[in-house]
Amino acid sequence: DPEVQEDLKRAVAKKAVEMVQSGQIVGLGTGSTSALFIEELGQLISKGKLKDVYGVATSYQAKVLSRQAGIKTLSLNEVNRIDVAFDGADEVDSQMNLIKGGGAAHTMEKVVDKLAKKAVILVDQTKVVSQLGLVFPVAVEVLQPAITPVLRSLLALGGEPEIRSALRKDGPIVTDLGNFIVDVRFPNGIKDAAALEKEINNIPGVVENGLFTGFVQSVLVGVRDGNENVVV
Ligand code: A5P
Repeated sequence: DPEVQEDLKRAVAKKAVEMVQSGQIVGLGTGSTSALFIEELGQLISKGKLKDVYGVATSYQAKVLSRQAGIKTLSLNEVNRIDVAFDGADEVDSQMNLIKGGGAAHTMEKVVDKLAKKAVILVDQTKVVSQLGLVFPVAVEVLQPAITPVLRSLLALGGEPEIRSALRKDGPIVTDLGNFIVDVRFPNGIKDAAALEKEINNIPGVVENGLFTGFVQSVLVGVRDGNENVVV
């Protein structure tokens, strides 16, 4: 039920903004859940409940939404730290390993989330899985001139790669950074996400992949309890 999912995302976003303190530099993720977080953060800033907060956007979308919400943003090259980053995910396992990149923004998300002193992942219960990759493909950002050899290498890793296209664009989509996206399915799921993350990134021509392993220490999950209440 998309309406319930929306309620869960909103509840998680409201909970997450409570973690932000005045004076902090905050990483801002991409996607529909991060969008709600940005909206909620903007409200606290315009009400004066938070002061001197700066955002570091992970995408064009995050930057535009921040401007609309009244959050000042700085580029990575203008900050000396990121205190905390808030971001969505496509899948989360029990080790807090993630699949991201459904919105093709995982490269800068990984830079910002990993640089942050703390990365907080915001999801609803539909994103929590026992094994990564059974449903969602791994997004791989690839330099355009290297697409064919990279596809070959991804096949050799046992994946089923497909260049991402969009309904209203003929041909491959191009990311904020000017690259292609290859979605790689692993039909039997991913056994060792940390190893696969490194193997994919070792392929020359790969910029970054959507596996996030071994650094997230906080995941907020929106859940609907037996009484149809939303809890985080
Ligand atoms: C962007 O590339 C992704 O990593 C997003 O963080 C992810 O797709 C989550 O998006 P939703 O909150 O819209 O599910």
